[in-house]
Amino acid sequence: MATAIIGIGNIGGPLARHLVRGGEPVVLAAKDEANAAALAQELGGLARAASVEEAIAEADAVVFAVWLDTIKELTSKDTDLLEGKVVVDPSNPIGVDENGQMTRTLPDDQSAGSVVAAMLPTGAHYVKAFGTLAADSLASAANREPRRAVLFFATDDDAAAAAIERLISAAGFDPLKVGGVADARRIEVPGGDLHQNGGLNGQLLDLDQARAAAA
Ligand SMILES: NC(=O)c1ccc[n+]([C@@H]2O[C@H](COP(=O)([O-])OP(=O)(O)OC[C@H]3O[C@@H](n4cnc5c(N)ncnc54)[C@H](OP(=O)(O)O)[C@@H]3O)[C@@H](O)[C@H]2O)c1
Repeated sequence: MATAIIGIGNIGGPLARHLVRGGEPVVLAAKDEANAAALAQELGGLARAASVEEAIAEADAVVFAVWLDTIKELTSKDTDLLEGKVVVDPSNPIGVDENGQMTRTLPDDQSAGSVVAAMLPTGAHYVKAFGTLAADSLASAANREPRRAVLFFATDDDAAAAAIERLISAAGFDPLKVGGVADARRIEVPGGDLHQNGGLNGQLLDLDQARAAAA
């Protein structure tokens, strides 16, 4: 079955390209369906465009590559459709204030991951992933040589862990689990010690470096 990518901007666009390059079928949805159709046409036979609801229904894994408020809106609206699906959440609790400055939108002790996981139906398989690098690194670092770059993930769910390990590998990175939803904050910004734009100060890690950093 396919992976649905809801949102094809800075994160969802490169992710769709990487997965198709790795042989994975994708169903793309955006706010404006014409944007998803244009990318699907560019990516060829493994990609197609659909509405958000069609994309979720067709996929076994759904990546919500949209802003946290939009994830909340869509998961509220499409709760029943998410039953049984692997739900992949790359979001950060970030907003922009009236002066154009980045602000944290949740209390310091609350992760975006914990908010999204709590909104899902009990049969959904939640994993935090694909948001641990800046978008330009996600776009440029797939299949890095001589050693692949790591994408961290966090989940309490074995089915979600198996699915995300396969998808991260297909996208051209090495997967590494940092823990469960309670650890999601480590791979979010602002503040995450294992986020490229947080405690890693821009670094891209290979598997040995990532294991040492996560320990
Ligand atoms: N940018 C980064 O460096 C970065 C890094 C790590 C994590 N993240 C996280 O990744 C997520 C996506 O960020 P981004 O930078 O990729 O955002 P973005 O470039 O602004 O793209 C947002 C995408 O969401 C789509 N969208 C908006 N409302 C929608 C709706 N109601 N239904 C379906 N699609 C909708 C937009 O559709 P249209 O194309 O039609 O406008 C667009 O494709 C955010 O949660 C962010 O915190 C971002």
